[in-house]
Amino acid sequence: MDVQEVLRFADEMVFAKTGEHLDDLQKAILLGVWEGQKYSQIAETSYCSEGHIRNIASKLWKRLSNVLGEEVTQSNLRSALERQQVFIVSSNFGNDFLHIGNVNVCKDSQSPEVPKDRSPSTPTSDTSKPQTRLDLADAPHISSLSDRTSELATLEKWIVQEKCNLAAILGLSGIGKTALSLHLIQKIQHNFEYVIWRSLGHSPPLETTLKNLIQFIANQYPPNPPLPRGGEEGFLPSSIPERISLLMEYLRKNRCLIILDDVQAILSSGQLAGNYRPDCENYSILFRQIGETTHNSCLILNSWEPPREITALKGENSPVRTLQLKGIGVAATEIFRQKSLLNPEQWENLINTYRGNPLWLKIVATTIQELFRGRVAEFLKYDMLFLGEELAATLHPQINRLSELEKKLISQLSREVNPVSIEQLLQDADLSPSELFNGLQSLGRRSLVETEEQENETLFNLCPVVRQYVILNPVC
Ligand SMILES: Nc1ncnc2c1ncn2[C@@H]1O[C@H](COP(=O)(O)OP(=O)(O)O)[C@@H](O)[C@H]1O
Ligand SMILES: [Mg+2]
Repeated sequence: MDVQEVLRFADEMVFAKTGEHLDDLQKAILLGVWEGQKYSQIAETSYCSEGHIRNIASKLWKRLSNVLGEEVTQSNLRSALERQQVFIVSSNFGNDFLHIGNVNVCKDSQSPEVPKDRSPSTPTSDTSKPQTRLDLADAPHISSLSDRTSELATLEKWIVQEKCNLAAILGLSGIGKTALSLHLIQKIQHNFEYVIWRSLGHSPPLETTLKNLIQFIANQYPPNPPLPRGGEEGFLPSSIPERISLLMEYLRKNRCLIILDDVQAILSSGQLAGNYRPDCENYSILFRQIGETTHNSCLILNSWEPPREITALKGENSPVRTLQLKGIGVAATEIFRQKSLLNPEQWENLINTYRGNPLWLKIVATTIQELFRGRVAEFLKYDMLFLGEELAATLHPQINRLSELEKKLISQLSREVNPVSIEQLLQDADLSPSELFNGLQSLGRRSLVETEEQENETLFNLCPVVRQYVILNPVC
């Protein structure tokens, strides 16, 4: 390992485990110690005192010990890092240049679970040295998470204990799908040999996504057939069905956790929820194969709405599950604390109005901080539901993509003062029963309507923020 590899390796390991990168001084200490310098020499070249260097170094060794699962000190740094197997891969995927460092970040020595149907002859990694190859190059920075304990536990149960094939995390923009799945990775990654994060935010064609996934796995583990020469383009099967079957072979032979973020970008606008964009229709074949066939891996999809086969395949006893994320409730007070808001007795009111959506609450908390120096009571005094440009901008693409039928229905719902029954809606809206059922179901799948049960009847409503948006920005 050369010194730059060491730095990158250590930085990526720490980042994958803690969400924080090494700072310049920590890197200088690492470099100095790797090259055999004393603390006094590092202090001189870093223009600070030896005591300060000792102090920072001691914290750094603790952090690395934690990440590597063995004690790291000034004297054993080299051997400790060398014991960890490092895989540095440089891949050039078309225009999309990726530099991926993949490291074993299994803090504890738990082995990846033995896959369901792995045959003894299957080429696999050395089980005496469990390794998780992470590719989070496409993932955003991980930040702190308030609560979500029960959601993390549910997902862990589905994915690790019950070995489900596909889990979709659904909810409005800002509700915390990305943040939750990043924390889930930290929690369960040691159960997998490969963890790969990809964003579908730019609606990549299926063949590009398949190429990306296949090349990562093939490059990481050379014995994986049939990409013997590092997965260059020429060795990839050219047809989509062949690429899908190659990926499925990898998913059977290895335990892979694949996270696809922003899946709504491959779904269509102007239609009911869950339909694909015409150029992305074939993702449906991939999701169906992963959801329906037997393998040892799991695909997590983060999306505003479930792709249509997910809705069809999901079930309590099915290998396909969906988790519709709700707001974070009182845990959001942590956001207010961080923004130094005042009048804590009013916080619950604010959380309810904005339905515990962490992004909405962060935006509103910033406004309260900037205009009222944090005085929540003064903000609430105006008795109007403030959206502001920033919050409205997060809702705009979600409302804009609705079908005409849903737009008609959401307009009607924004005019209803109280929650309404289907019977009432049939009277108020100019829609046939089947149009109404389709529209309500689709808005529900997009998390845009709320329901409550009352006297054997389901009542439908818009959440206050969505209602306000539709009132201020009429959709039809
Ligand atoms: N449980 C949480 N506690 C605190 N902040 C959160 C939580 N979940 C999400 N956030 C923050 O809210 C914002 C939106 O979260 P994100 O995961 O990007 O939402 P989504 O992927 O659903 O659009 C981010 O700034 C994120 O850090
Ligand atoms: Mg997201």
